[in-house]
Amino acid sequence: MLSAPRNFFVGGNWKLNGNKQEIGKIINFLTAGNLDPSTEVVCAPPTIYLEYVRKTLPSSVCVAAQNCYKVPKGAFTGETSPAMIKDVGVEWAIIGHSERRNVFGESDELIGAKVGHALEAGLKVIPCIGEKLEERESGKTEEVVFCQLKAIADNIKPDQWQNVVIAYEPVWAIGTGKTASPAQAQEIHVKLRKWLNDNVSADVAWKTRIIYGGSVTADNCRELARERDIDGFLVGGVSLKPDFVQIVNARQ
Ligand code: PGA
Repeated sequence: MLSAPRNFFVGGNWKLNGNKQEIGKIINFLTAGNLDPSTEVVCAPPTIYLEYVRKTLPSSVCVAAQNCYKVPKGAFTGETSPAMIKDVGVEWAIIGHSERRNVFGESDELIGAKVGHALEAGLKVIPCIGEKLEERESGKTEEVVFCQLKAIADNIKPDQWQNVVIAYEPVWAIGTGKTASPAQAQEIHVKLRKWLNDNVSADVAWKTRIIYGGSVTADNCRELARERDIDGFLVGGVSLKPDFVQIVNARQ
């Protein structure tokens, strides 16, 4: 069987954490650490530090915004556009993280529009999807993640899929210490890939990276990374710590 053409991908979502001093320490361990050169590494600092981090990190590590708005400019106080993110040399944006959905009330429709606009503006995107605990317990996981994925996929043109990495992050596993088991994560990744196959194309299903997020640690990352359809991780808490390097190197 052909091995999949999907480079291992590890994102670090710093969320609302850090100041220049603490970020300096993260940059130090990323610079000093022996990062597996075959892993694509992307760090997402708070918006205000994007340019500083881009200028300070080695160019082999990419930088992402944690969010962006759906239009290039205008009367939208407090927002940041993909054009501005690109203007400071940053190439990626996380879109629709569960905290954006559940704390800030972002809808599938808004997230879809953001994905479409960010891709049009030339950013690469990491759209996030995932079910809540009550949805899993009531047997609705597939329905929820397929609906979230459809709202995203409807806004992606065929030639833009190469700039998309889907993050599957079950909400019950984010920041809780309850990681999905490798089998649980693999099961959903297979279903998401099949959805892409049936609703977009076999080529997109084969080539698009689907990464897992939710309490990934240096201890559990290797076992998760052995699953065929887990193409990397989106890491929250541990991305602020030197252990992040071990997650980057989970496939070594
Ligand atoms: P966590 O967060 O690794 O702290 O669980 C994951 C995420 O929110 O992307």
